[in-house]
Amino acid sequence: MTGSRKLYVKSFGCQMNVYDSQRMADTLAPEGYVETATADDADLIILNTCHIREKAAEKVYSELGRMRRLKEAATADGRDVLIAVAGCVAQAEGDEIIRRAPAVDLVVGSQNYHRLPDLIARAKREGKAVDTEFPLDDKFDHLAAPSLASSRARGVTAFVTVQEGCDKFCTFCVVPYTRGAETSRPVNKILAEVERLADAGVREITLIGQNVNAYHGAGPDGRPWSLARLLGLIARLPGIERLRYTTSHPLDMGDDLITAHGDLPQLMPQLHLPVQSGSDRILAAMNRRHTRANYVAVVSRLRQARPDLALTSDFIVGFPGEAEKDFAATLSLVGEIGYSGAFSFKYSPRPGTPGADMADQVAEGEKSERLQRLQAAIDLSQAAFNRDCLGRTFSVLFERPGRHSGQLVGRSPYLQPVQIEAPPALIGEIAPVTITEVASNSLFGALNSAPEPALAGAGA
Ligand code: 5AD
Ligand code: SF4
Repeated sequence: MTGSRKLYVKSFGCQMNVYDSQRMADTLAPEGYVETATADDADLIILNTCHIREKAAEKVYSELGRMRRLKEAATADGRDVLIAVAGCVAQAEGDEIIRRAPAVDLVVGSQNYHRLPDLIARAKREGKAVDTEFPLDDKFDHLAAPSLASSRARGVTAFVTVQEGCDKFCTFCVVPYTRGAETSRPVNKILAEVERLADAGVREITLIGQNVNAYHGAGPDGRPWSLARLLGLIARLPGIERLRYTTSHPLDMGDDLITAHGDLPQLMPQLHLPVQSGSDRILAAMNRRHTRANYVAVVSRLRQARPDLALTSDFIVGFPGEAEKDFAATLSLVGEIGYSGAFSFKYSPRPGTPGADMADQVAEGEKSERLQRLQAAIDLSQAAFNRDCLGRTFSVLFERPGRHSGQLVGRSPYLQPVQIEAPPALIGEIAPVTITEVASNSLFGALNSAPEPALAGAGA
C-alpha cells in the first residue's frame, strides 16, 4: 500500500453502475485510494458512464470537458490527476474516447473493473491504457466485496448484482452489446455478500440485473436456481427485512416468481416491469417477444398473488414506425394498468442496434409531443396511486436525514419516499407511519407512536 490518494467516482445511468462504482472504490481501497465527494481534490477521477440513449452518452463528454479543466489546473499546481472512463460508453467506444477527449488516461469496459489497479499502473507507465475485452474470467471473482466499513457508510439499503448482461436483443437496446451475454452469479457468492451487508446494518436488499428475473445462477446443489428460489433463501437471513429486485422482463416472470410475491412477506409489493409500448405492432418491431395481452395477463396473475402490488414501467415513444394509433395504445395501457410511476423516453437510435437502421424513423417534434402526453398520463396515474395512500398506515424503513433538521426520509413498501418528523436514531428502523399528506413525488406522514426508548441508541 502506498500513501493515501483521493478517488472521485461519478456514476451515470442505472443502478448497476452505482453498484459497480462502489465495487471499484472497494477494489482501489487496498491500493491506498480513499473516496472523496468532489472531483476538485481527486488524484483519480472515474466517470462510470451510460450509453443507453444518445443524451446519456453525450453527458459524459461535457463532464469530461469539466474534468479536463480540473486536470489542467492540477497539473499547473504540480499535481498529477488521472481521468478514467468506465461503464457502457467505455465498452462501446473504447479508444475512440481518447481520440475525442485526449485528457482521458484510461478506458475500462464494464467487465474489467477488477483489472483497474493494473490499468492505473499501465496508464502511469505508458501514458494511456484501454481495456474493453470481454474476459473469460468472471469479474465478480476478483472484484473486492464490500467491506464492513464501506457497507456501513453506505446506509441501510443496498443493491446486490446477481445477474448481468442480456440475451433478449430488443431492437432499440445497446445492453446486449455493452454488457454482453447474460450471466448469473452463483447463489453462495450472493449469499455471502448479503450476509456481510446484513452484518453492516443493511435492512433492505435490491437484487439487480439488466434482466434480473432471467437469473439462473448455480445453487449450492450445483443446479441452476431461479430468482424466486434465491429470494426465498435470502428472505430467511436474519436482519434482512425487505427484498426487491429489478429490472425484469415480462417473458421471464416465472410461475414461482409470481407465487413468491404472495408467499414472501419480505418481498416488497412493488415491481418494475417495463413494457415499452402498448401496441402489438411496435412490440413486435421492438423484438420484445410478448404482446400487450401477455403483459396484461402477467400483471393480473401478479395481482392475484399480491393484490396491492404497485407497478412501475419504462416506455419508449417514437420507436420507428410508431403511428398515432400505436401511441394511443400505449396511453390506453397506462390507464388499464394503473401505474404507481413510470419512466418514459423518446426513442434514441443507438449505433449498432437494428432499430437505428429501420425505415420510418419518427420526427423529433412528434416524439417530444408524444412524450409530453405520455408523461401527463403517467403523472395522473401516479397521483391517483398516491392519493389512495392518504390516511393509510404503512411500515416505513427510515433511510436518512431529511432536508430540514428533525426530518427523516424513508420508503414505503411501494417505494414512495416518505418524509416524517422523527429522531435520527430511527434510521435503519422500520416503523408504522400514517400518511397525512401526499405530493406528486413523495408522501408525508406521522409516526403512529412515539419511538420506544429501546430504539434510542439503535440505527445503522
Ligand atoms: N431509446 C430510448 N430509450 C431506451 N431505453 C433503452 N434503449 C433506449 C433507446 N435506444 C429505455 C428502455 C429501457 C430503459 C432502461 O431505457 O425503456 O427499459
Ligand atoms: Fe435491453 Fe432490457 Fe431488452 Fe435486454 S430486455 S435488450 S436490457 S431492454
